[in-house]
Amino acid sequence: MKFSHAIIEKNATLLLVLSFIAVSIGGIVEIAPLFYLQNTIEKTQGMRPYTPLELAGRGIYIREGCYTCHSQMIRPFRDEVERYGHYSLAAESMYDHPFQWGSKRTGPDLARVGGKYSDEWHVEHLKAPRSVVPESVMPGYPFLAETPLRTDDIADHLRANLKVGVPYTEAMVENALADLKAQANPDDSGAEALQARYPKAVIRDFDGDPGQVTEMDAVVAYLQMLGTLVDFNAYNDEANRR
Ligand code: HEC
Repeated sequence: MKFSHAIIEKNATLLLVLSFIAVSIGGIVEIAPLFYLQNTIEKTQGMRPYTPLELAGRGIYIREGCYTCHSQMIRPFRDEVERYGHYSLAAESMYDHPFQWGSKRTGPDLARVGGKYSDEWHVEHLKAPRSVVPESVMPGYPFLAETPLRTDDIADHLRANLKVGVPYTEAMVENALADLKAQANPDDSGAEALQARYPKAVIRDFDGDPGQVTEMDAVVAYLQMLGTLVDFNAYNDEANRR
């Protein structure tokens, strides 16, 4: 046995061919079963497409490269689950195009950051991270609070997501701008319609500036929603594993 392996190690071509065969077998064993599963996304209750304001916030999150320091995927390990909460489910990123799992954690995972802090905390933290977390190395984004959110193309963003499979309805696309404004203004008359289209949509003046809808409103609305949609009381790990 020892002898035969020495032959492989001394013959580069043979080593390459046999390595390729070994890797192929590994790949087939991992990938082939997926073709026979009806669904790799578990059944959950509560997931819905992002509201227009959350979707806009998500766009800014990507534009600013927040994903280069923050992951959005809690792995099923004890240390992660104790720190961040229930491990992430595939269903929780099924409306993400592209997904934001990330591969680097300079800062903490954000998959369940929704509801962890107040809006005021997020606004202060995004403007000047070190004003609330003195040892933070996160850059500040003070301009978000001063920049009016671009809203004229919001319906197009919904349409683009619709094209790649997010189940936005005709009514959602038509009312995208109205819904966006309603979510950032508690006095808006569109609250009921918004919540009928997007259950659990949180309506608040997220940035504390009632005068205008800013990029800060959108980012905070997005962060406050993260990880809050799936109803874990109705979610059954065991049933899904079968
Ligand atoms: C250079 C890396 C870096 C970038 C880029 C970055 N962050 Fe952070 N972030 C951190 C670090 C480090 C922390 C932990 C210290 C702190 O709370 O400030 C953090 C913390 C946070 C927290 C608090 C998380 C918690 O559970 O306490 C939020 C929310 C957050 N960042 C959002 C954002 C958003 C939104 C963006 C993009 C606009 C962003 N970050 C960009 C490094 C980064």
